[in-house]
Amino acid sequence: MNSRIAVLGIFVADVVFRTERLPQLGETIIGRGFSLGPGGKGSNQAVAAARLGADVRLLTKIGDDPFGAIAHSIWSGAGVQAELGDSPGEGTGAAGIFVLEDSGDNAIVVCPGASGTISLSDVEAWTDTISSAGIFLTQLEQPVEPTFRALQIARQVGALTVFNPAPAASLPEGTLSLCDYVTPNETELSQLTGMECTSLESAARGARRLLDEGAGAVIATLGGQGALYCSHDTEIHVPAYDVGAVVDTTGAGDAFNGAFVVALADGCDPVEAVRFGCAAGSLSVTRPGTASAMPERKAVEALLA
Ligand code: RIB
Repeated sequence: MNSRIAVLGIFVADVVFRTERLPQLGETIIGRGFSLGPGGKGSNQAVAAARLGADVRLLTKIGDDPFGAIAHSIWSGAGVQAELGDSPGEGTGAAGIFVLEDSGDNAIVVCPGASGTISLSDVEAWTDTISSAGIFLTQLEQPVEPTFRALQIARQVGALTVFNPAPAASLPEGTLSLCDYVTPNETELSQLTGMECTSLESAARGARRLLDEGAGAVIATLGGQGALYCSHDTEIHVPAYDVGAVVDTTGAGDAFNGAFVVALADGCDPVEAVRFGCAAGSLSVTRPGTASAMPERKAVEALLA
């Protein structure tokens, strides 16, 4: 198959605070550590895929500012080729991320900035790049209409389509029918279906709802429990890999999605690709940060061996 991967999604700078607990409204607490680095789900997923050796095109927008310089630096280091839409006067966005010191769990607010202006006309301008890829991957941090249109274009040219509905949002009619694979986490699966999805059994029920709505297959990512692959004829649980202390769970889903599409591009069957994704996701939580925590191929292969 054509192994080029096109990713539509946002870049933002991640402003990360490590803390013992989340502050309450009206409260100030002293944090344990601070960092500034590259983020945004689309960019993180593109970096994850490129680090694993894939030919990756990222379709996005950034501003001409210091946060935008962080984007260029992570992309050139990882080998991501970015195609940037115009966003005159718009600054690069930012995400405020709280990471709990003990568990590595996170809470995030994203302001997409320039990437939030991705429009239908940007997607039309990126048609050739989307059409040149064998796999198209996107999320929901940019506006939903251009995301839907990009999925339509990818489907029309016969690319495999992978949709990570993060964060969950209300979707135009027919969106899931454009997707070969839909990859929500438990929270997104609950929000998309209105069903509780807190266990393997309930996640399977949620996944089946998305299959009924048109998804080709659903992979629910379940944090420390790994992932659940559900298609019309099978349900397979792939556990997470035990790789030691969890430092930061932010971006684990991005590591999963980036690695999953690389394995598909390599010709793996979807369940093997889920295993590869789980291995990458498990490794990513052992390091702080998101894009900068994406593992190299050698490390993923060693874990799988
Ligand atoms: O998935 C993690 C990412 O979500 C962070 O990098 C943050 O930027 C938000 O977009």
